[in-house]
Amino acid sequence: MKRSNLLRILLLALFIIGISLSHYLTPLRLPMLHDILQRLYYLPIILAAFWFGVRGGLVSSIVVSILYAPHIIFQWGMHPSLELEKYLEIVMYNVVGGVTGFLSEREEARREEVQRSAKGLEESFRKLQSQADLIIRIEEQLRRAERLSALGELSAVLAHEIRNPLGSIRGTAEILKDDFRPGDRKYEFLEILLKETDRLNRVVEDFLGLARPIEVERESCDLMAELREVVSLAEGEAASRGVRLNLVPTQLPLVRGDREKLRQVFLNLVLNGIQATGRGGSLTITAAAVPPGNGASAAVELSFTDTGAGMTPEVLGRIFEPFYTTKPGGTGLGLAITQKIVESHGGGIEVASEAGKGTTFRVRLPV
Ligand SMILES: Nc1ncnc2c1ncn2[C@@H]1O[C@H](COP(=O)(O)OP(=O)(O)OP(=O)(O)O)[C@@H](O)[C@H]1O
Ligand SMILES: [Mg+2]
Repeated sequence: MKRSNLLRILLLALFIIGISLSHYLTPLRLPMLHDILQRLYYLPIILAAFWFGVRGGLVSSIVVSILYAPHIIFQWGMHPSLELEKYLEIVMYNVVGGVTGFLSEREEARREEVQRSAKGLEESFRKLQSQADLIIRIEEQLRRAERLSALGELSAVLAHEIRNPLGSIRGTAEILKDDFRPGDRKYEFLEILLKETDRLNRVVEDFLGLARPIEVERESCDLMAELREVVSLAEGEAASRGVRLNLVPTQLPLVRGDREKLRQVFLNLVLNGIQATGRGGSLTITAAAVPPGNGASAAVELSFTDTGAGMTPEVLGRIFEPFYTTKPGGTGLGLAITQKIVESHGGGIEVASEAGKGTTFRVRLPV
């Protein structure tokens, strides 16, 4: 039995015994006091009915009746008119105990009913909300897919038309460059021309990569090895900006995917992190195997955490849009391509960022 119930029973028992003792000890020549004591019995009876329902009410009224009856028989026996009244009181005890118990049980049942339906309502509200969230997410994905497919049609044509003349320009510039010696001003101009055509070519390449449906080669990839490679590629850039690169080595299961494309994903994230971080900052890469559960299959989760500038919520909301950039020389294609590659592997990418504190990109790839 629960502690609180035991305490209640103890209290009721004390109450009833106290009143009964007072009855037996109060001299009969004080009928007023007896009248009051007699009514006091209703208190424990009603309390018992409230706390324990019909059973509680009746048990307490019967106990009271049993304790009170000898007092009537032996002490009031010589006053027949009063005696009848006292017997009637005993009947009342039991009626009150039973009726109050019945009412309180009904009330309790009603309260439980209300609580149950409130809980049911809450449940369906939650379900509705999560469904609404899902719809919003799907709609967002749909909109993005639409945008990308319109972009794709246009860009395939455009990129093709740009790439060919670009190749000619580059070739011509290289031939011209042979005519000048390093140090010559025209030689420098031609260098600039070459560098800029390369940049333009890269933008077109990236753009095409974004617009075309990605074909993923499926091979077993050791992500740690790829990360190590990317870190060594980015080391020079990091060192020149005074940013420390940390890769926390972890044992990871193999992931089926396209090594080349995944390396591109990691490089984009690492470069973004380095570019956002000032001297003395750091970029830390951690990885963890995630066991299957909650309807999701086993996965590997990679985190890229920098201590850089972070992003405001407005920027954060747009970073995956193609061509969205806050950098003077940026194309704004890095993250759009990154997201596309990750999703074509059946994975997902999430970002958390706080302006002034830093950013964490989390990439999840199914095993
Ligand atoms: N780690 C980061 N910290 C802060 N801002 C970031 C971070 N990564 C991305 N961003 C923001 O997201 C924008 C988009 O990034 P994205 O990689 O797509 O393009 P970009 O880096 O600007 O250009 P590109 O990748 O072509 O050099 C960035 O301009 C920057 O504002
Ligand atoms: Mg970038």
